[in-house]
Parts: sequence; structure tokens; C-alpha cells
Amino acid sequence: MSNSESRKLAELAKRRGFFLPSNEIYGGAAGFYTYGPEGAALKRHLEDAWRDRFTVKEGNQEIEAPTIMPEAVFEASGHLDTFDDMLVECAECGASHRADHLIEDNTKIEDAEALEITDVEELIREHELVCPACGAALADEPVSDFNLMFETTIGPGSGQSGYMRPETAQGIFVEFPQLAEYARNQLPFGVTQIGPAYRNEISPRRGVIRVREFTQAELELFINPERNGPDLSQVADVELTLYPIENQREEGSEYVEKTVREAVEDGTIASDWVAYYLGIAQGWYERVGVDMDRFRFRQHLPGERAHYASDCWDAESELGGDWVEIAGFAYRGDYDLSKHAEYSGQEFTVFEPYDEPITAERATVDPDMSYLGPEFASKAGEIADALETLAERDRAAFEGETVAVEIEDGAYEIPTEKTGFSVEEVTESGEHITPHVIEPSFGVGRTLYTLVAHAYGEDEVEGEERTYLSLAPEMAPTTVGVFPLMDRDGLGDRAREIAGELREAGLEVAYDDSGNIGRRYRRQDEVGTPFCVTVDYESQENETVTLRERDSTAQIRVPTADLTELLTDFRNGVRSFDEVRGGYEELSESPANPAE
Ligand code: GAP
Repeated sequence: MSNSESRKLAELAKRRGFFLPSNEIYGGAAGFYTYGPEGAALKRHLEDAWRDRFTVKEGNQEIEAPTIMPEAVFEASGHLDTFDDMLVECAECGASHRADHLIEDNTKIEDAEALEITDVEELIREHELVCPACGAALADEPVSDFNLMFETTIGPGSGQSGYMRPETAQGIFVEFPQLAEYARNQLPFGVTQIGPAYRNEISPRRGVIRVREFTQAELELFINPERNGPDLSQVADVELTLYPIENQREEGSEYVEKTVREAVEDGTIASDWVAYYLGIAQGWYERVGVDMDRFRFRQHLPGERAHYASDCWDAESELGGDWVEIAGFAYRGDYDLSKHAEYSGQEFTVFEPYDEPITAERATVDPDMSYLGPEFASKAGEIADALETLAERDRAAFEGETVAVEIEDGAYEIPTEKTGFSVEEVTESGEHITPHVIEPSFGVGRTLYTLVAHAYGEDEVEGEERTYLSLAPEMAPTTVGVFPLMDRDGLGDRAREIAGELREAGLEVAYDDSGNIGRRYRRQDEVGTPFCVTVDYESQENETVTLRERDSTAQIRVPTADLTELLTDFRNGVRSFDEVRGGYEELSESPANPAE
């Protein structure tokens, strides 16, 4: 990201209360940010819009799980073994760096994360890379794997080892048996969660873009891959900007523009489900105000994929010249459920009934234990189990006088008549399957940063420079600023009454009676408030107010009685200012402040 853009945004974010580094009175700790009043409101609106699209409109269920989980969860999930980044430390100043980022920042290599540690060490030597903090050479420094999870102990004493969850997803997977019950064991079903995740990032950077505590919004969709497909007709014609693996590998190759239908038909996107969610996400990003000319979906290179993912695409937004991942869409297969089943010993399957019951032959044994017991003593049980497995695998083995089985300590011959071998006809009405998982996973902070960066604008209004955020009305922390021209002659009382009525209707309102009107408009423009209402002397004569729109700065005169409905519709996307402005008197100038 260009330094000047990121500096301007960081300055605005802190000064106007979007986000600021935490704990600064004690020197702070890198990678932790506090959302101020504007940022917290924007984040809440973003989460509500995500919930509306990915939980409510998709018919999914939301849960809220604990953020600290016992060690066993992460042994099973693979995070203890593989959730690492490459660390290189400067011997001179002690600064820690992500070795793959150093390579990416200083060479043409774009996916250094996929490289082996030895190759990374070699590249550091070859390119004579130095410590970004102090300039000392890193050529002789070892690169090591650094696990990103925050460890803690649960309870007093030596306690039980636990970890802050590095993704909200695990809180869903571990409860799968119960969640499947709630879904009446009917696939497909989806479970969502919005909440904090923690990663002890080696080098946090770029404000809320890479932090150690952040909010994820994740959907885990559980499917039967043989039976459940998405309703692609809903998104078939949505145009996507895609950056597939082949294009990333070709020097100078650009993105491809394709509809979801085309991308599925020509195999650009391998999974129908992933394609479906890219289509849904595209519409959602447009809705919340991402600039779609600064947005793309990029396919993960094979070495870049997480340990659980078989295909993965990232949503990326362009921020000051860099592409930043803001969401991931992964086909996780049955990796997570199988691992938790294996490690916990619990059932992580769903019974899937066949359309028609199936009648099949099944070979079974019923060994004569009164023979096996005395004959083979402590081996009898093992031999009985081996006979059962053999019957399932190889019926022909039971055709002779004796049956040969192998157990751990050798081979044994059993008279066939003592095995109780038989072939039965069985009718099966269905089977137990381990569902597969499709996972759209969004970073809330990175999306929020994108909205602010893409909405940021500077222009000149009435001869003065202004900074504004053209946030979508649904996202803006405040929907409307209400101002009396002056706080006298009853104008202030009327403006406070109107502000109260709008708040009563559920709108977020900023009341401001200080400074001249132009300055009050600019204060609201800078935090992205899309509308301002001014109560002036004419309001007292005919119960109208001026209504100003932020981006165009156009103003219309509207009856006070219309205000609540208009503003509610604007915020909810039912109507836009442009659609209604023709129906009202348009003003050529801002209301003049008598004090000016
Ligand atoms: N459950 C899948 C998962 O966690 P991920 O790609 O590691 O996938 C998903 O994370 C999203 O979380 C990312 O696309 C990004 O937006 C956000 N994210 C990940 N690490 C982050 C960090 N250190 N700071 C801020 N956001 C982060």
C-alpha cells in the first residue's frame, strides 16, 4: 500500500474514531487495535450485512462458541503441527520478520509461503536481504517454523493446556454431532459464526490488515458431495473477475472476466459450491460498497493452500497498489470431520437414506468360540475379528475345508465349519457418510479497512477542500446529521425533536449545533454520514427541512413528515436520493448561516 495512502487513512481513522492502536498509554503491543465509536458502528453494520446475506438469506444457523479451546482440538485439526509461518530473526537488533514476506517484498516471487525453508534461506543469501528495521545482513540467520497459536493454561496449577482459537471454524466442527441433530440430520446444512480469532503474527502490519486479534465471519456448509449441489441458477450470470493459477504463472497475464456459469462449465472453478459462493460474495461486496474495479478473486497456488483445503480462492482488494486477501473460499472436503472423529472417537457422520432401499448379499461369520477359545486361548478374539474382515473382503477364502487368517503374530488355519460362514440377503435403506465442508471465511477488519480505503475521497466544495467517505448508507456509522441553523429562536428545540423522532425510528443520528453549517457538513462528510438535515427559519413557516446528500452535495427541501420514511428507505436500499430528488424542490445553495 502506498505510504501516503496508508498514512492518511491511519490519521483519519485515529482522529475520527474508526480504529487506533490499543494500549498506547503503556507503550502498546503491536497487532492490537481498538475500534472507536465510528469504527465499532461500521463494523457492526458490516457484520449485520454479512449475517443477513450468509446466515439469514441462505437459511443457515448461527452459533457462538468459546474462543479458548483445549489442546486436543488443535492436535486433531492439525493446527499444532502445521499452523506455522517462517520466522527469521535479526541477530543485530532482535527484530522478527516473516521470511516469506521479505522474499516477496524484495524479489519477483509472489508465493514464497509455498517454498521450503532451505530455499527461503538460500534466497535470503542470494538476494543479500537485510533486516528492514536496522539494515543488518540476514544471510547467515536461520529460518524456522513459528506456530501462530497463542497458548494458555486452563484453570489453576499446571492446568490443562489450551489455545486461543486461530479460526472460528473449529468451534463449529467440534460441535458437529450436536449441530447435525439440530439440523435433523438433513444435508446440506450450514452453520455460521462471527467472532474473534487470534494469531500470534510474526510481524503485524498495515493497521487492522494484519493483527493478532481480529474478527472472522465464517460459514461452514456441510454437504453430501454425491448428492448436494448448489442452485447455480441464482448466480449463473454474475460476472466475476478471476485470477486463476495459469494466469498467475504466465508473465504479464491478466485477469479473466467470466460469469459463474462460464467459469463452472470450462472448469476454471473446480467446485460448483465454491463458484456459487463466489457469485453470492460478489453481490455482497457490491452491496457493502467495495469498489469492484479494485477487487478480484485469486486462486490459491498449490503450495499456498491451507493444510485442510483441496481448492481455494481468495477475495482480494486493491489497497494503494497492493492486493490484500480479505476472504477465503475453500473446499475443505471431509478433512475436519474425519480428523475430529478419529481423535475423539465420536461419530461424525450423517445417515443418508437411499431413494430406494437396496438389497444386497452380505457375507458374515459367527465363529464357534467353544472351539476357538480352547484351541487358540488369548488369540481367539483376534482370530474371530480377522475372520469377520476376511468374510467381507474375500468370500472365496471360505470355499475350502479350512480358512487361513493372518493376525499380528502369524498365520492360522481354521476349519471352515467352525467359522459359521454364511451369505445373507440384506436390505439397506441408506448409509452413514462423513459430510464434506465448503467454507467461505471473511476477515471483518480487512473488509472494513477496504470500505474506508475505497470510500476515501478528496474534492473541493464551495471553494474549500474537503475529505469525505462515500460509504454505502447501509454501512455508514451515522445515517443522518441533524443541525439547527442556529441554536436559537426555537430552531435548536425543533432540530432536537426531529433527531429524537429519527432515533425512535431506529436511525443513527448525529445532532450538531456547533460551528457554521459548512463545517458541520464537512465533519459528517469525513466520517461518511450520507445525509444531513438542516432546520432553518423556513422550517418554522412550512414544516420543511433541507436534506443534503454527501457525495453530490445536492440539497432538496422536504416536508418534515416525509423524513423518517425517506431516510429509512435510503439506509435500507429501498430507494436512493437520486430516485427521489426530482420530486422535491432543489436548492442551489446551502442554507446561509446568519452568523456568517
Ligand atoms: N477458517 C479459514 C481461515 O481461517 P484464513 O484465510 O486463514 O482462513 C480467513 O482466514 C480470513 O481472516 C482472511 O481472508 C483474512 O481476511 C482474515 N485474517 C486472517 N489472518 C488475519 C490477521 N492476522 N489479521 C486480520 N485478518 C486476518
